[in-house]
Amino acid sequence: MANPINKTFHTQITILSLILLLYPLVANSYKPDYNLAINCGYSTNTTSLDNRIWVGDDDIENSNLLSFTEPKTTNQSFITKPISLSNTQIPFTTARVSISNFTYSFPINITNSPVFIRLHFYPTSYQNFELSNAIFSVEVNNNLTLLKNFNASLWLHHDDNEENIIKEYCIQIKPNENLLNITFIPNNKNNVSYAFINGIEVVSMPSFLYYSDLDDLNYHIRSVHTGTTDYKIQKDKALEMVYRVNVGENQVPPNQDTGMFRNWDNDYPRYLKKQYSNSISSGYRDHLNYLKNTVPNYTAPEVVYLTSRSYGTNANEDYNVTWSFEVDSSFTYMVRLHFCEFDIHITDQTYRVFKIFIDDTLAEGLVDVFFWNGGRLIPIHRDYAVTMYPKEGNSHIERVNLSIKLQRLPDHTPTRYRDVLLNGIEIFKISNNNKNLAGVNPKYLPPKEPLLPSPQSNSKSSTIVIFIAVGVSCLLLAAVVGMIVFVRRRRKFQSHLETEERSWQTKKEGSSTLPSYLCRYFTIAEIKAATNNFDDIFIIGVGGFGNVYKGYIDGVTPVAIKRLKPGSQQGVNEFMNEIELLSQLRHIHLVSLIGYCNEGAEMILVYDFMQRGTLCEYLYGSDNELLTWKQRLEILLGAARGLHYLHTGAKQNIIHRDVKSTNILLDEKWVAKVSDFGLSKVGPTGMSMTHVSTVVKGSLGYLDPEYYMRQRLTVKSDVYSFGVVLLEVLCARPPLVRSLDKKTSSLVIWFQRCYKEDSILEDMVDPFIKDSITTKCLKYYSQMVLSCLHDDGNQRMSMSDVVGALEFALQLVMSEEDSRLSETQEKEKSVQRLPLLQFTSDDASDKCFTSSSDDYGSHTSKASTISARTEDQLMLSGSAFSEIGNPRAR
Ligand SMILES: *[C@@H]1O[C@H](CO)[C@@H](O)[C@H](O)[C@H]1NC(C)=O
Ligand SMILES: *[C@@H]1O[C@H](CO)[C@@H](O)[C@H](O)[C@H]1NC(C)=O
Ligand SMILES: *[C@@H]1O[C@H](CO)[C@@H](O)[C@H](O)[C@H]1NC(C)=O
Ligand SMILES: *[C@@H]1O[C@H](CO)[C@@H](O)[C@H](O)[C@H]1NC(C)=O
Ligand SMILES: *[C@@H]1O[C@H](CO)[C@@H](O)[C@H](O)[C@H]1NC(C)=O
Ligand SMILES: *[C@@H]1O[C@H](CO)[C@@H](O)[C@H](O)[C@H]1NC(C)=O
Ligand SMILES: *[C@@H]1O[C@H](CO)[C@@H](O)[C@H](O)[C@H]1NC(C)=O
Ligand SMILES: *[C@@H]1O[C@H](CO)[C@@H](O)[C@H](O)[C@H]1NC(C)=O
Ligand SMILES: *[C@@H]1O[C@H](CO)[C@@H](O)[C@H](O)[C@H]1NC(C)=O
Repeated sequence: MANPINKTFHTQITILSLILLLYPLVANSYKPDYNLAINCGYSTNTTSLDNRIWVGDDDIENSNLLSFTEPKTTNQSFITKPISLSNTQIPFTTARVSISNFTYSFPINITNSPVFIRLHFYPTSYQNFELSNAIFSVEVNNNLTLLKNFNASLWLHHDDNEENIIKEYCIQIKPNENLLNITFIPNNKNNVSYAFINGIEVVSMPSFLYYSDLDDLNYHIRSVHTGTTDYKIQKDKALEMVYRVNVGENQVPPNQDTGMFRNWDNDYPRYLKKQYSNSISSGYRDHLNYLKNTVPNYTAPEVVYLTSRSYGTNANEDYNVTWSFEVDSSFTYMVRLHFCEFDIHITDQTYRVFKIFIDDTLAEGLVDVFFWNGGRLIPIHRDYAVTMYPKEGNSHIERVNLSIKLQRLPDHTPTRYRDVLLNGIEIFKISNNNKNLAGVNPKYLPPKEPLLPSPQSNSKSSTIVIFIAVGVSCLLLAAVVGMIVFVRRRRKFQSHLETEERSWQTKKEGSSTLPSYLCRYFTIAEIKAATNNFDDIFIIGVGGFGNVYKGYIDGVTPVAIKRLKPGSQQGVNEFMNEIELLSQLRHIHLVSLIGYCNEGAEMILVYDFMQRGTLCEYLYGSDNELLTWKQRLEILLGAARGLHYLHTGAKQNIIHRDVKSTNILLDEKWVAKVSDFGLSKVGPTGMSMTHVSTVVKGSLGYLDPEYYMRQRLTVKSDVYSFGVVLLEVLCARPPLVRSLDKKTSSLVIWFQRCYKEDSILEDMVDPFIKDSITTKCLKYYSQMVLSCLHDDGNQRMSMSDVVGALEFALQLVMSEEDSRLSETQEKEKSVQRLPLLQFTSDDASDKCFTSSSDDYGSHTSKASTISARTEDQLMLSGSAFSEIGNPRAR
């Protein structure tokens, strides 16, 4: 019964999602002539999550793709792995490290188009090397400095849990040089400095994407400070892409770019100063119109132009919508702003007119995107040059803020909507006359410790601040208890990791083609011995992909063995790639893949066996003991941490896509482990319509409504599903019970209604825990659930916020337990104060929902507006769809 792979296996929704994730929805509009990605320190070619081939550089003696040189006289470079196992993304699992110069040379025979150079760094400690000593310079063809005394450790954005640094440059190779040399030079001031690199990409780009076409008389770059329009970016300049942002919505990952593998960041919260402004999207119903030739179709992905920010209709305060970017002073920057009017209410010129300030200087006095572009759905960009100066009296390069502000016109001006619009921002640093792009390192910022969920700021001002009354004494106690818990848990976690690592190293080597540190190889004989030749009595689960057996390897260690049905259509290569990916995802709260076997037609995966089975079995529908409230919170917290790791531990944001209580497993110590992530690729590849509609039914109750309606698959879809699990745990019932009446059959709808009506929330709570859950705790928990279940993914809390909130809820429970003890002596003289939480109330979110859908009608998630295209792609029949329904009762 206790199996790490749930009984229905990974449902096929994950296949669909994976396909959507891996393959861009639209054909690439640009195909680079030259496209090479190097996985430094790796011996073979690997395929990353987004299906790019990364060529290993460890064995390039005979390669005509690249060559590697280092002076013979100096200490040679070597290949190494990060000490920590936490980053599992290609190309970050290995690095090339050296205390001496080394050079990568790429023979490039295309000299008419510029190229992107992308340098991928994973700043962490490598064998014998401290991260703080990674200080080096990078030069191109001995003539252009990309980085100087680059202190890698200082470039991480701790606020985002980001682990990698990717630097992107644009250079134009001279016609007489058909070699691109990239040289890494450790700082020679002290002998401990070293240089390292994890991955290099060289990808060609269209000639005049960013460089100026000197023959095109219509193209201008306007200099912000002088007002002239004759600035040009000539071929001898190199550019560093410092920021590239999709304004208004989520990140657009490299595989969804137009073919150049550019990454488009999201703008909030890092760059948008306050989330006052409204995020709107066209709902993906529209396509851009390129017929007017305003920009080539590869300029930016459609989604960048079809999402934007504006003021919002009920803003009565006049503020500037402001983005702020930290840049090096003493350089000139090219700022490219992307605009596209997709709003159906903007039907003519003068409907929406506004001003733009760049670096607090008026860059445009009257912006009328409709007029500029000549209509709706026509994309355009405007380019500006701005030179950043250091603060007064300073002659050094320093980090300064480059701001972009949109300001609506004053009242009583002849514009129909006093509103602003921006769809995308790109900022490039332009090399100076010394052929230098290197600036200074940012200041050291210690990593933030997320303790409380960050306030769910609402675009619509109507946020209700909830003051939770906690006595000061109580709070102190909670802090102390929390501290102890934190330290203890940390220690436990550390030791777990260590033992895991140790046991890893001692695992015996198999005949696999994968490095043995990743994963153990089992022979079919071993597997047969473990399962008594696949004896039926060992079956603990049956699913579309085959059976799951419980087995004992080496006669002692219990494992779950998943045997894929022969003919699972999976090529051996894909199978291996998948295993490699999964075996690198290691976290105490994820079920580990311990090994695999592929002999003959057999493809078998071996997982840790989870003694206690699924979380679901301890909530309802079984005779198992019931869990206390505190136990439930601990399990949820563990699962949340596992998901948070999936979302952020890897660069590409792995989305689980099938979060539910049967996919949260428990080991003998009640440690929660998330299972069934990412494996979907091992399933059959030929997907048909029937598969997809079964899928939709199969995961009913957990699926993010936004995911159907707008086909937006983000990490927030997992947050939604996790919100459903949170409810399931609170109420100890399945998300959907068909036999119940309409009001209560859907847990989510029932809850949302109850929350509005406030009083009867307690009635929903599992009677078994009702007495141990205080009103305060219930309130807090409910707000967290509401935020997770928000219709708009952007408004949902992130998984890291959920982790913080669950930690806090657990602290509440513990301090309540303690205070109950001391209550007899000190009768409630507690002070009723201390604002602790700020959550969007359902009321507020409802308002937000309504008004954003009415906001010129462009952003909507009503079922009726699902486009034909979306329906085709999801292949939802009318009936299947009505079964899913809109979880929001309206
Ligand atoms: C992009 O535009 C080019 C030329 O204008 C055209 O040939 C190509 O088909 C377009 N690509 C897409 C994906 O629309
Ligand atoms: C690795 O990939 C490169 C580029 O796609 C290819 O030329 C090379 O043959 C591949 N090497 C192996 C061992 O598959
Ligand atoms: C560099 O090489 C010298 C001489 O071969 C050796 O003594 C020294 O230990 C090496 N340094 C490092 C950091 O490997
Ligand atoms: C390393 O490169 C730098 C810059 O090109 C150069 O000045 C230095 O002499 C090189 N060191 C060696 C040992 O080649
Ligand atoms: C450049 O080189 C590659 C491989 O060496 C070759 O396939 C390609 O045709 C060449 N392109 C040009 C424009 O010479
Ligand atoms: C590099 O940054 C680290 C902090 O992450 C600091 O300790 C170290 O001193 C810095 N090194 C230099 C040479 O500035
Ligand atoms: C690149 O390096 C190679 C070998 O180190 C050298 O022969 C070549 O001249 C260099 N090319 C350029 C453009 O610097
Ligand atoms: C670097 O570029 C400058 C100007 O483009 C040129 O004069 C110089 O010779 C180049 N130096 C090298 C080493 O290629
Ligand atoms: C908006 O920004 C401009 C330029 O920095 C400034 O002059 C103006 O006062 C700002 N307006 C508001 C309301 O902050």
